[in-house]
Amino acid sequence: MKASDYVYCDHAAGAPCRPEARAEWAAYATHEYANPGAHHPLAYLARRKLIELHERAAGVLGVDPREIVFTSGGTESDLLALRGVMKSALQGRNELVVSGIEHHAVLLEAQRLESEGTVVHYAPVTRDGVVDLDALKALVGPRTALVSVMYANNETGVVQPVRQVAEIARRAGARYHCDAVQAFGKVELKPRELGCDLMSLAGAKFGGPKGTGLLYNQMNSRLVPVIVGGPQEWGLRAGTEDLPGMAAMTVAMELAERERSGLWERVAAIRDALERRLVEGLGANVRLNGAGAPRLPNISNISFLHIEGQAMAIELGEQGFCVGLGSACAPGETDPSHVLAAMGLSWEDAIGCIRVSFGPDITEAQARRLGDLCIANYRNLRGLG
Ligand SMILES: Cc1ncc(COP(=O)(O)O)c(C=O)c1O
Repeated sequence: MKASDYVYCDHAAGAPCRPEARAEWAAYATHEYANPGAHHPLAYLARRKLIELHERAAGVLGVDPREIVFTSGGTESDLLALRGVMKSALQGRNELVVSGIEHHAVLLEAQRLESEGTVVHYAPVTRDGVVDLDALKALVGPRTALVSVMYANNETGVVQPVRQVAEIARRAGARYHCDAVQAFGKVELKPRELGCDLMSLAGAKFGGPKGTGLLYNQMNSRLVPVIVGGPQEWGLRAGTEDLPGMAAMTVAMELAERERSGLWERVAAIRDALERRLVEGLGANVRLNGAGAPRLPNISNISFLHIEGQAMAIELGEQGFCVGLGSACAPGETDPSHVLAAMGLSWEDAIGCIRVSFGPDITEAQARRLGDLCIANYRNLRGLG
């Protein structure tokens, strides 16, 4: 099969880089090769472009250009937010609160900070995968420096009560970091209106190139840089700027935001129809994880009981459908996901899980075929004939 024959249902792992972003990348790579930090006419032009890119990215988020730090993606943005705040150790605040369903970019950095002396609290989630606000409130206090709760979970698509989390952090005088990597381009994201001090985005999830991202860093958030050296990105991220990557991501941001409204309702309806079809066909043998909570429009996390999700995903791949397993950021991992475990799923329910994440071009017919294949594969895998 050629690549174009596959139906790509793994957008949460990485969306295709859109043509406008590829064209912008090529234009910048061709013309803006000078180092913006140098001192000659071409460097001044590159510097002007760099300023413009900060202005444009800030314009999309409704923030100040000085609040934009371009990074290499979601992982680096999360790292800079967590380490940058915790190592600044403001007023003796040495505690970090994260939810148990954060991406590993947050959770593993939290663990590393813990090993270096930070006190880390892990907030539980409900059975539907929503952070438990009462439990969170009890964990946030006068010694909390930072609260990190994502906008929407990458495995289930479940949207978190971001405004309430922001309010809990604000009342305690703590900062709030929101990993919005999965949400940007699907929902309106204005960090100031949401009450976020820090917000992570990754270009690869909304049509920009892989290896691009940004951290929104609210003006008074003093951070300790993780990558040190030159003074780039307000002194927060050393290294010669990747102007082509920044430009390609910025154009993808602008287009994703412009096209957002009206685009995803259709996708949500197709996702819902797929889920209904699976329940009709497989009854109690299928579970839709997080489906009782508000979700992003394109993600479905499906547990097929008594089989392995990996077996289902392999079958679907051979039949022309690319779907994800528990977490796309853990290639080859067969342990059930920490997200599903935090939601209280048994090992067996979690191991039988696949993640379907549609892009805006999914058709009803493709989703119907996917549903039919899932049902047929399930019967075969269980030997039900
Ligand atoms: C919620 C979330 N945060 C962070 C990341 C890491 O982003 P990146 O791969 O751009 O480093 C991902 C990647 O899937 C993600 O889904």
